[in-house]
Amino acid sequence: MADSTSRSGGTYSTPEVLRFLDGLHAPHDAGLSRAFDAPSKEGIPAIQLGVSESRFLEWVTRLTRVEVAVEVGTLAGYSAIRIARGMPRVSRLYTIEHDPKHAAVARANIEAAEVSDRVEVIEGDGVQVLGQLERLGPFDLVFIDADKERYDQYGRWAQRNLRRGGLLVGDNVYFFGRLLEESPAAAAMRRFHTEAQAHFDTCVVPTPDGMLLGIKR
Ligand code: DHB
Ligand code: MG
Repeated sequence: MADSTSRSGGTYSTPEVLRFLDGLHAPHDAGLSRAFDAPSKEGIPAIQLGVSESRFLEWVTRLTRVEVAVEVGTLAGYSAIRIARGMPRVSRLYTIEHDPKHAAVARANIEAAEVSDRVEVIEGDGVQVLGQLERLGPFDLVFIDADKERYDQYGRWAQRNLRRGGLLVGDNVYFFGRLLEESPAAAAMRRFHTEAQAHFDTCVVPTPDGMLLGIKR
């Protein structure tokens, strides 16, 4: 049921309701717990996906039968583990992280979660590494969760390197509520939206900070 409150962006979720449902529908095993807790333990910004958001990403990966995927912005590996768990045993996820410490922590978490057979953490600048990955495409999924001022560039890369019917997913597409502000980063995020809409069948899932999904035409 939607009503005027929920349609206009209000939410009925409370921390207690979320905790109950996360534990029921998106439970952590030891590997997921380790990756989820790593940022706060290791002095890394705790900006990973939420528990149910990441479970949703796993489901979308599974539903669309993703076999070759790219993630921009690994952080500590939590979302990479979720994506990998939605992929078949023989598959490949390339995940790009610019911070060497984050990349090292992520590699250890991915190993502990027993998905290192299908996940490769590539350390380097997002745009530069994407250029090197082009030869391994076309891809089934591109998940963008990195520096917001370059979402437009990452989105254009996805448009060129996803197969037809491939899936683009972008986190933080409300840009923390600042999407309509006058700043270079907000303008880049608006370009990401308009360019995605021009080349993909798109929708925005109303997660806390918005998640864009696009199917490449
Ligand atoms: C930030 C980045 C993210 O990708 C996110 O989901 C939340 C916060 C940040 O840079 O603050
Ligand atoms: Mg994010």
